[in-house]
Amino acid sequence: MTFLKLKPLTAEQLSAAVELDQLCFGGLWTRSGYERELDSPNSQLLVLEAAIGNRDSGVRARPSEALTRNAVTTEVETELTPQPLLVGLGCYWEILEEAHITILAVHPDYQRQGLGKLLLYALLGDARRRLLEWATLEVKPSNQAALSLYQKFGFTEAGRRRRYYPTGEDALILWRGGLQTLEFEETLTQCYQEVESTLAFWGWQLSEVIGGRC
Ligand SMILES: CC(C)(COP(=O)(O)OP(=O)(O)OC[C@H]1O[C@@H](n2cnc3c(N)ncnc32)[C@H](O)[C@@H]1OP(=O)(O)O)[C@@H](O)C(=O)NCCC(=O)NCCS
Repeated sequence: MTFLKLKPLTAEQLSAAVELDQLCFGGLWTRSGYERELDSPNSQLLVLEAAIGNRDSGVRARPSEALTRNAVTTEVETELTPQPLLVGLGCYWEILEEAHITILAVHPDYQRQGLGKLLLYALLGDARRRLLEWATLEVKPSNQAALSLYQKFGFTEAGRRRRYYPTGEDALILWRGGLQTLEFEETLTQCYQEVESTLAFWGWQLSEVIGGRC
C-alpha cells in the first residue's frame, strides 16, 4: 500500500516541485515562479506526496524504488530512502469569481492511476468551497490525456488563443460554469467515487488531506 498526502505546497518542497515540473513540462515554471505562488494569497497550489511503508513501523520508501524492488534490496532501499516523493501538483488562481487552473501535472511514472483526477477534484472542490462560480484553463489541442480528463469534470471548449504556446501551437480555452450548482456537486461526487476505486486498484491510500476537500 502506498500512502498519499494531499496538501498545499510548502517551501521545503520547492525543489521537488521544480523537478516534477521539469519532468512533466520540461520547465514551465522556475523556482522563483513557484516561490511567487507560495507568496500569493490568490494562488492555491496543492501537491500529492507519496510514501510507501508500514504505517505501524513508520518505515517509508520512495514508491518508484519500492514498486520495482526485488526481495534482496527492499530493506536496504527502505532504510536509505525515507524521503517522500512528490507525485503530482495542481494550481489555480482565484480571480474574482473565477478559478483559473494554471498547472496540473502527475509524475510520468504514476500517470493513469487516478492521481490527475484526484488533483483536479481537489482543486475544483476547493474553488467550490471558496464560492467561486466557474473554472477555466488553457490546454494544447494535442493533449488528449488532459482534454479527456477535463471533459470528465464537464469542461467544454470556449475559444482558442492563436499561437499561445512558444512552439506556435494554439491553446484551447476550456470552461466549466456552475461550480455552485447541485449538478456540479453531483459531478464531483461521481468523479470522487471513480477516483477512490482507481486509487484502490493501484494500491494508493489517502492518509492525509489538508485543504482541497469539498
Ligand atoms: C494530464 C495528466 C495530469 C493526467 O494525469 P493522470 O494521473 O495520468 O490522469 P488519471 O489517471 O487521473 O486519468 C483520468 C482521466 O484522464 C484521461 N487520461 C489520462 N491519461 C490519458 C491518456 N494517456 N490517454 C487518454 N486519456 C487519458 C482519461 O479520461 C482518464 O480517465 P480514465 O482512466 O477513466 O480513462 C497527466 O497526463 C500529466 O501530468 N500530463 C503532463 C502534464 C500535462 O499535460 N498537464 C495538463 C496541462 S493542461
